[in-house]
Amino acid sequence: MRGMIRRLGCSQGPRVGMESQHQNAPSAGTCLILSPQPSALKKTMPLHINTPLIASAPLSAICGRAIWLKMDALQPPGSFKIRGVGHACEEHHRRGARRFVSSSGGNAGLAAAYAGRQLGVPVTVVVPESTTARARQLLRAEQAELVVHGASWQDANALAQSLVGADEAFIHPFDDPLLWTGHASLIDEVLDADLRPDAIVVSVGGGGLLSGMVEGLRRHQLEIPLIAVETSGAASLHRALEAGQPVEMAAIDSIATSLGAKQICNQAMHCATTHPLRSALVTDLQAVQACERFIDDHRVLVEPACGASLTLAYQASPLLEDFETVLIVVCGGATATLAQLGDWRNRLSGATA
Ligand SMILES: Cc1ncc(COP(=O)(O)O)c(C=O)c1O
Repeated sequence: MRGMIRRLGCSQGPRVGMESQHQNAPSAGTCLILSPQPSALKKTMPLHINTPLIASAPLSAICGRAIWLKMDALQPPGSFKIRGVGHACEEHHRRGARRFVSSSGGNAGLAAAYAGRQLGVPVTVVVPESTTARARQLLRAEQAELVVHGASWQDANALAQSLVGADEAFIHPFDDPLLWTGHASLIDEVLDADLRPDAIVVSVGGGGLLSGMVEGLRRHQLEIPLIAVETSGAASLHRALEAGQPVEMAAIDSIATSLGAKQICNQAMHCATTHPLRSALVTDLQAVQACERFIDDHRVLVEPACGASLTLAYQASPLLEDFETVLIVVCGGATATLAQLGDWRNRLSGATA
């Protein structure tokens, strides 16, 4: 049965699908990953890499100002998430955690699976049934134990939390101080490279990345404004700012599922109201088109969650006009494919035609 989702009956409660990938031999549909194993890693080496910081000639030309890109799409598991998740996993490993449990079928789960493999710690990821085949395949390739449960992330998250035993650590996708501290390393790297942008563009889901950017800037006593971007159907920060407090959205209606947290975390709300910040909304179609143009311009495929931020440059947004030098956090995302971007574009442009 290995390589297939096996259905296990539960004596109480809903059925849970489980698949174990801990054994050494690769199973059908699972790639063998030839990357540094724990023994090859220096003890002090973080799990994320210092990503390239590049001036974008095409985007600078469109906007008529200097647009810089922090290329976190090039992190080994495909997104910035490994900064915070890696830091949290290393910290829990140091404290003796024997297993990591995650509830993200997206980039946070992938980062946890990657971190666990690098540290030699088993990882269980509980994902809702809606998780794409592509995301499941990536998690299996990182040798995580995959548990499929429930219709929504809330269902998967509740089960994940109940599975965390003694000496095990739950790795939250966005609401954890350890994550924010890890994400803040992105700001350290930008400043170490001697770039002082006038504004930073960042995508917002649950608000972990935003919280990390503010933590990084405060570490250096900098008040560089942030432009926080969401798709209109996943606008939990925008709605919270309108309401003056975090509010739970009834539903997420966006293909940018990585931005699909129904409610922003309290820390992100605190950051958004105490740090200079502007909120921007883009459409799903704009986010997808930005992803496609970015492939042509910079030869890197990112998710619409990241395309949302890139949209501000591709649309030469008036929100950028006050700033001479703008940094875009190219947060990445590994769960989209070229074919899927094309399908989304066709469907969305048909819907708006
Ligand atoms: C590629 C990508 N960009 C942005 C975000 C948003 O990050 P956060 O939930 O920390 O706001 C996510 C979250 O999963 C993501 O995967």
